Amino acid sequence: KSNKGIADPIKNPESDFCINARKGSKLVALKRMYKDRKSKSQAVAELKGSALGTLLGVENSPTKGQSKQNNEPKIEAEAEQSFEDIQKVRRSLPAYKVRHHLLKNIRDNQVTVIVGETGSGKTTQLAQFLYEDGFTANDKIIGCTQPRRVAAVSVAERVAKEMDSPIGQKVGYSIRFEDQTTDSTKIKFMTDGILLREAMLDPLLEKYSCIIMDEAHERSLNTDVLLGIFKTLLARRRDLKLVVTSATMNADKFSRFFGNAPQYFIPGKTFPVEVIYSNHPVQDYVEATVQKALDIHLSTPVTDGDILVFMTGQEDIEATCSTIIERLTEIYTKKYGANYQTYLADVQVLPIYSSLPADVQGRIFQKQKDTVRKIVVATNIAETSLTVDGIKYVIDCGYSKLKVYNPKIGLDSLRITPISLANANQRSGRAGRTGPGIAYRLYTQDSAIEDMYPQAIPEIQRTNLANTLLQLKSLNIDNLSKFPFIDPPPSGNLMASLYDLWTLGALDNFGNLTRLGKLMGAFPLQPFLSRVLISASKHGCSEEMLTIVSMLSVPSVFYRPKEREEESDQARNRFLIPESDHLTLLNVYGQWKANKFSAHWCNSHFIQFRSLQRAREIRQQLLYVIKRQNLPMESSGADWAPIRKCLCTGYTHQAAKLSGLGKYVHLKTGMDLKVHPTSALFGLGDLPSYVVYHELLMTTNEYINVVTAVDPLWLMEYSGIFYHIKRRKEQSYRFGETTSLRKADNGDIDKIDIQIDKLKAVAQGVINKLQSDKSKF
Ligand code: CDP
Ligand code: MG
Repeated sequence: KSNKGIADPIKNPESDFCINARKGSKLVALKRMYKDRKSKSQAVAELKGSALGTLLGVENSPTKGQSKQNNEPKIEAEAEQSFEDIQKVRRSLPAYKVRHHLLKNIRDNQVTVIVGETGSGKTTQLAQFLYEDGFTANDKIIGCTQPRRVAAVSVAERVAKEMDSPIGQKVGYSIRFEDQTTDSTKIKFMTDGILLREAMLDPLLEKYSCIIMDEAHERSLNTDVLLGIFKTLLARRRDLKLVVTSATMNADKFSRFFGNAPQYFIPGKTFPVEVIYSNHPVQDYVEATVQKALDIHLSTPVTDGDILVFMTGQEDIEATCSTIIERLTEIYTKKYGANYQTYLADVQVLPIYSSLPADVQGRIFQKQKDTVRKIVVATNIAETSLTVDGIKYVIDCGYSKLKVYNPKIGLDSLRITPISLANANQRSGRAGRTGPGIAYRLYTQDSAIEDMYPQAIPEIQRTNLANTLLQLKSLNIDNLSKFPFIDPPPSGNLMASLYDLWTLGALDNFGNLTRLGKLMGAFPLQPFLSRVLISASKHGCSEEMLTIVSMLSVPSVFYRPKEREEESDQARNRFLIPESDHLTLLNVYGQWKANKFSAHWCNSHFIQFRSLQRAREIRQQLLYVIKRQNLPMESSGADWAPIRKCLCTGYTHQAAKLSGLGKYVHLKTGMDLKVHPTSALFGLGDLPSYVVYHELLMTTNEYINVVTAVDPLWLMEYSGIFYHIKRRKEQSYRFGETTSLRKADNGDIDKIDIQIDKLKAVAQGVINKLQSDKSKF
């Protein structure tokens, strides 16, 4: 039986696996309910509290030093590894043993594909070998790309330590909005997205002598695009070396892509891992995971080995971590009474996901006393990018959170999706690095065989390509049909993405980049956000919009510690602008600025200092781009209408209309939507008739978050290409006169509709023309 398409949430949503993914976790839903201000009293009975604030170790927590009882196990890391110890570890890695061969291969070939088990030292050692071998002569540097930001930072820090040089000196990293490199940097770790941006400014990548494309098997969108770019670039720069590293899958494909480039296998030993499937389908994967982790922890001595849990995303991870601690506290209290903390100190539960602050992330690598068991709860980042040593047990929930693009409705959404068999095997393998291990798969063997793809679908085939196409166009790669994609994106995605760019005004009717499009390409932002930012400079509110866009690029700014929920909710309520989360964010930042960017102010107002600081840095970087592009910076002062208008220019596809009590319907697709409990609009008695939103989350319900009330006329005026008024109630209504928010909602206009069919026809015409005109496309 062919399993093509079975576990695809869009093509075939009816497999058990997909149904359970859609149901999501009840446990998490309950926790979310608890967080929601309105129904707290109902949920409070069911949940005793969350250990989350302390668990995440946010050191600027307002509770610091005040909390009487501290459930958090003490983190007593063993003394820092000495330089000698680190060198000893280095020398023991499989990659080190074949150093000479590796270097010879790289010297003798322009492209080398290097394959090795995870943890064999590819990421941390290769760049160092090249450095030691003189690859940084003539002022050239060595670049190493990572698909994930977390990995780029964490490996750079590790390698800096191994080379005994502070970060930013010999070894640096660069991720979007954060550059930790200097003129003396010789080894630069970066996300693949950063290298792609560099290629836009310096198409020959002159400063590099060698580029390591690490984790290429992940097949991230930017990695795929870079591979295509390298194909022509390598011919123009014969002196540039390319090293592609891959876990054991996909290596042949890379080798073939680069004209049968040689593959080098790093020999390494792994231990057998016993794979144990569930006997029955699992209803709630978070609940089942918590149970399994507790079972293992309570039935084996802590010295036995650590536990690595693969969970979907931040929310599920936080719920898993806090529930494990809650349950353990309960169990130990019952068993040992007041003594429970001693036992709790035996276990350390550590979350790891990309938006977690770096120092908290770093804790997964800290070596613990043998008497402390680590339970690391991770996203698929721990599959290959990060190696946590000492894992004996793996628990695999079977899902990951993926960005999935549906070209039919033209929407990107985050979905909990079944993983592929290759991912499952990679996950299990993590249990056998230091000795024999056990992997528990929380799904049945049948569903693994029937419902899972053998390999994950590369990102380029399941995501919106608007951003990528804009970049390729900026690189003067117009002929997309000839671009050497390692796997071409489906034409539906390509068309839909071109169409998006066209509606945003980035492409003209011939598919050429417009001036606006060129400008948009200069910003390291999603096209719809750069569009919003650019239009703000025309409407005299770029000061404000710059803040909003920066705030949208950081994790949540509100902090809600355990045992002080009421207080923190009150603090939060004082910031809320009832009609707009965007303006709420602006308000928070504005007040922080008025208080001299103070950390103390953040603490006393339950605001995450770290997030705001990050937003401030991002703002600075974007400001730099604005200045370089000679765009005016103006403030609209107390007038917020221009800001809301500008949002309409970019959020063209993200608009919704009130359809009932607390319910919205998506303007373009007719999809039912609910306001997310964390939105400022949640629970408003009088919800605005029209909104634009920043985020769409698909779980049990379709939630929209970061929402702003808009006048439908604005949608028409600023996304005019897209919407028009179907019927007017009052003939006297004149277009453009309404500036107040509610006026239009009072019945002046009762319907706006989308000229989608008309538009599609135009777009298709443009595309057809482009395709027939081979020289252009
Ligand atoms: O890239 P590959 O999977 O082949 O291995 P690696 O990431 O270079 O890891 C080699 C070793 O360095 C592993 O034993 C890791 O646990 C260790 N490492 C570490 O201790 N701290 C880090 N931040 C990164 C790696
Ligand atoms: Mg690696």
